Amino acid sequence: MVLPKKVKMVEVGPRDGLQNEAEIVPASVKVELIDRLVTAGFKSIEAGSFVSPKWIPQMAGTADVMASIVRKEGVTYSVLTPNMKGFEGAVAAKASEVAIFGAATEAFSQKNINCSIDESLERFRPVAEAAHEIGLPVRGYISCGLGCPYEGEVAPSSVAAVAAKLDAMGCYEISLSDTIGKGTPLKAQAMVQATLDNVPIEKIAIHFHDTYGQALANILACLEMGVAVVDSAVAGLGGCPYAEGSSGNVASEDVLFMLNGMGIETGIDFEQLLEAGQFICNYLGRASSSKVSAALGCTGSGA
Ligand code: HMG
Ligand code: MG
Repeated sequence: MVLPKKVKMVEVGPRDGLQNEAEIVPASVKVELIDRLVTAGFKSIEAGSFVSPKWIPQMAGTADVMASIVRKEGVTYSVLTPNMKGFEGAVAAKASEVAIFGAATEAFSQKNINCSIDESLERFRPVAEAAHEIGLPVRGYISCGLGCPYEGEVAPSSVAAVAAKLDAMGCYEISLSDTIGKGTPLKAQAMVQATLDNVPIEKIAIHFHDTYGQALANILACLEMGVAVVDSAVAGLGGCPYAEGSSGNVASEDVLFMLNGMGIETGIDFEQLLEAGQFICNYLGRASSSKVSAALGCTGSGA
């Protein structure tokens, strides 16, 4: 067992969480949430997406959000960019990182970004090249790593194949995603193991939705293999609009509680993270999905 001493927690709530809200959250609320997460110590925050507003209206205000956040030195404010149009938006908004997002299955790729896996890689290539030209780091995602809402079971080799291509494009980190949260620990390990044939462990991140309550177990299984980058969302916000039944990301509060309990460093302040979770739950008017927040009575006004 090679548990990491430190884990980089990547906070995706402002993007992956709020993209799935039925009501569009105003930019001012997103800005306050991001500022609170930065205060809690996150160094990597996904702030929004430059995608089609017809597809994801919830992210249409990303330029306004990026214009209003108080930038803190050393913090990466990342945005999703599926194509060059998105990339141009990201550059204009002074994003500090862009993320390209592919999938392990053809059906999900079509539903999510309206093209095949190969076509998506062709659209990502100029984005990655342009980003590298101006020194912007590029993150890669692979959706449906542990199951697809349309195709069912996914072979680890399918994830590994896309990971190799994203690596060849120069992604500094590749986030293996369980979009529908159906994975279990040995499957999560098999996905990481297959990807390791093509990508070194330092570049692998994990992004687990908690639909079936498996996310913490899956994260632990991957930590045991040496994975040291974990995506999560404050208050367990989120879901994917193109994966029906997909619930939130694993809650950042729950991940932090587990890592703290294992003596693994993150640099995140637990109390301030709880407060950030309460802030957004109060705004949304519903209880947090974080079990830790519920146990501590910090679930927000919707409780
Ligand atoms: P398309 O319709 O094939 O694109 O959509 P197109 O190039 O044919 O353009 C059609 C229209 O969209 C044009 O506008 C373009 O200008 C516009 P019109 O002339 O009709 O007025 N357009 C854009 N507008 C703004 N920003 C852009 C952009 N690109 C084109 N970047 C596209 C293709 C990818 C744009 C579309 O399918 C899309 O936006 N999809 C949204 C995907 C998305 O955001 N999904 C959720 C995030 S992924 C996720 O949650 C998974 C993840 O968390 C990991 C996991 O858990 O699995 C990352
Ligand atoms: Mg996601």
